[in-house]
Amino acid sequence: MKGRVLNSIAILVSLVILAVGRASTSDLPALKDVFKDYFLIGGALNRNLVMGRDPNAAQIAIKHYNTATPENDMKWQLIHPEPDRYNWGPADTFVEFCQKHNMVPIGHTLVWHAQTPRWVFQDSNGGPATRDVLLARMKDHITTVVGHYKGRVKGWDVVNEALNDNGTLRNSPWLRIIGEGSPEKQYDFIEYAFRWAHEADPDAELYYNDYNLDTSKAKCDGAVAIVKYLKSKGVRIDGVGIQLHAGLTYPSVETLEYAITNLAATGVKVMVTELDIRTQTRGYRGADISMVSREGTADPNAAAAETQKKLAEKYAEIFSVLLKHSKSITRVTFWGVYDATSWIGGSPLLFDRNYQPKEAFFAVIKTAQQAR
Ligand code: XIL
Repeated sequence: MKGRVLNSIAILVSLVILAVGRASTSDLPALKDVFKDYFLIGGALNRNLVMGRDPNAAQIAIKHYNTATPENDMKWQLIHPEPDRYNWGPADTFVEFCQKHNMVPIGHTLVWHAQTPRWVFQDSNGGPATRDVLLARMKDHITTVVGHYKGRVKGWDVVNEALNDNGTLRNSPWLRIIGEGSPEKQYDFIEYAFRWAHEADPDAELYYNDYNLDTSKAKCDGAVAIVKYLKSKGVRIDGVGIQLHAGLTYPSVETLEYAITNLAATGVKVMVTELDIRTQTRGYRGADISMVSREGTADPNAAAAETQKKLAEKYAEIFSVLLKHSKSITRVTFWGVYDATSWIGGSPLLFDRNYQPKEAFFAVIKTAQQAR
């Protein structure tokens, strides 16, 4: 009897704790509401989340985001793994998830040097494909993928990461094969990609996307040159995505403002497309995926209070700059939802490994409230 009473009390107590816990999470302000007068707020969603295998993460995304980008499932390797085979399932699920939960879906990405199968750049003997073959493959890919999502995806990262940190074009197979080492042809692959994306969905917005635009003025100047080139040819470009893979000590306010103002001055929209803040204090700074590994960058101190305080301060600083320039910025997208599934390890996002809001979350909210 006594046991039963104690049991019932225990159950009651846990229910109350659960209810209070729930209430406090649902009482949180939603990021998308807090920033609604300034820009859209979103995140990269992975396959587990959109397929219903990470419901807690889905709840965070549904509550806080009004735009989303698929973390991987629209990349060439995943959506078009073999010459005659497209794999639409996961990307379709992403788009349906966005439609169901009122998030503006962004397509990522069409032309990139990474996560692209080797066959794309090769002939049947394993040697490099010719310029004409590669252009034909690019056209087929863009026409098919953009066509498949016509009217359903708001805008595309048409070309991703074509620049070196010094502002010159990256020595990728796209540049080597289509540019043929000739300065007059160096922008050809970018121009064709944007032209074909526009043909496939004339209503879709088209973006150039890159990292370190916020830390390297030379790289930002390189992006400005791409925009000017496309405009001079009468080719549509709507925006430039500053990925903004930041760290506890970078970018500086000065270089971040340089990027926003110089990109906006070309007349395009500026977007923050992949925001996170690396909590590791050593190692590679940048977002070249061949240099970044979750294991290699795991940081045992990531959850330390001091680190979380610095993270909150850096997020507050970045958001105060974004709010100051909010007239030029249409969207701010985090590269993930919560720390456990971030591609860079450590503790780079606003929600911790247990789906709880961190000090950085409240710092971001406070920054918005102070801007009013
Ligand atoms: C990353 C994903 O987050 C990882 O899951 C994947 O293994 C590698 O790519 N720049 C981009 C993104 O444009 O597509 C990259 O995403 C991160 C850097």
